[in-house]
Amino acid sequence: MSNLSQQLSLEKLVFSEFLTRFGHAPEIFRAPGRINLIGDHTDYHQGFVLPAAVDVYITLAIQVSSSSQNRIYSLDFNSYAEFEFSQLSLETIDNQWLKYVYGMLSWIHAIDTDFPSIDLVIGGNIPVGGGMSSSAALCNALGIAFARVAQLTIEPQQIIFAAQATEHRFAGVNCGIMDQFASMFGKDQQAIFLDCQTLTHEYVYLDLRKHCFVLFDTAVKHSLAESEYNQRQIECKQALDSIRADYPQIQSLRDVNKELLYHFQSRLPELNFNRCLFVIEENERVLQSVELLRGAKFEEFGQMMTDSHQGLRFKYEVSCEELDFLVETCVPLSGTYGARMMGGGFGGCTINFLERNQKQQIIQSCKNAFQAKYQRELKVYEVEIVDGARMFID
Ligand code: GLA
Repeated sequence: MSNLSQQLSLEKLVFSEFLTRFGHAPEIFRAPGRINLIGDHTDYHQGFVLPAAVDVYITLAIQVSSSSQNRIYSLDFNSYAEFEFSQLSLETIDNQWLKYVYGMLSWIHAIDTDFPSIDLVIGGNIPVGGGMSSSAALCNALGIAFARVAQLTIEPQQIIFAAQATEHRFAGVNCGIMDQFASMFGKDQQAIFLDCQTLTHEYVYLDLRKHCFVLFDTAVKHSLAESEYNQRQIECKQALDSIRADYPQIQSLRDVNKELLYHFQSRLPELNFNRCLFVIEENERVLQSVELLRGAKFEEFGQMMTDSHQGLRFKYEVSCEELDFLVETCVPLSGTYGARMMGGGFGGCTINFLERNQKQQIIQSCKNAFQAKYQRELKVYEVEIVDGARMFID
């Protein structure tokens, strides 16, 4: 089934599940997952990223509750919760999806103290753990849905900050703003060139008639992922603190160029130096990639992607064996322009930039190689770039 028809049936599914469970009609909201063309682990250093929203979604059916309780059902996890908001606390929630709902509910209750109880069904086709930011999509969709229920006009920017804060405070990951931004502000056929320092963005048109992005999912999620993600921030901060001793005006790695970093090389542990060097180089790659894509220089852009992977692997050290294997398998194939791990790392997906008419051979070769090496099937997602979050009106 194509992603589009899957989505249409998803809307029907959450709608009819809602009707059956709660006996009244809901409104439907959805927010897409994202890919990131290039610029990983730069957003929380106030750097540059180049993501895009893609045609996999979290879809919600919601309405003011006909009971005094919040009644919430997750289709994917086949899990139901019923509670009064004031009686719930983070410590008592043992499933991750409900933590996100609780985080966003806490946000809207702080804005609207009369926020009513809700009936809610959550569905989706964003592979959980696949690195396409299902949690950012969930929070964004909840944000626009709650604003509607509260009958408040809330700026999308406010919603993405609430979604990011939920990730920090309720899920314990100190993420940047890329995922939430891409899922909210995505645009059909465009990548988003985002400056995470100023939050200014430009769209970069992608002519993908002859090219495409395909994701290969390692289906690995190392338990390290969250702790190492936060650890990278600590390592870079240690380096920044040393640099700041001489240059107190420096706020983030965005204010450090290569020359300055090399100037401090002898005073920094090698590990911290490499982490910072990666971030500075990755920012440069994003800037170059935007120019290359605008000039339809796809081969050079593909090389940027592959260089990005090398940096993530050897300098920032957030890759893993399966990701490296997939990149090494895909890059030499005819019709591949570039490949890299995508997102936080330690598992999840690689993103592969391919010649459209050679896509199937490339996918098959990578599937065969993965099966031979790991004795399991490689999951493949063929994605197209779409618009960001919205209310879904039939
Ligand atoms: C995760 C985070 C993002 C970003 C990426 C790495 O997806 O949520 O904010 O840091 O990792 O680029």
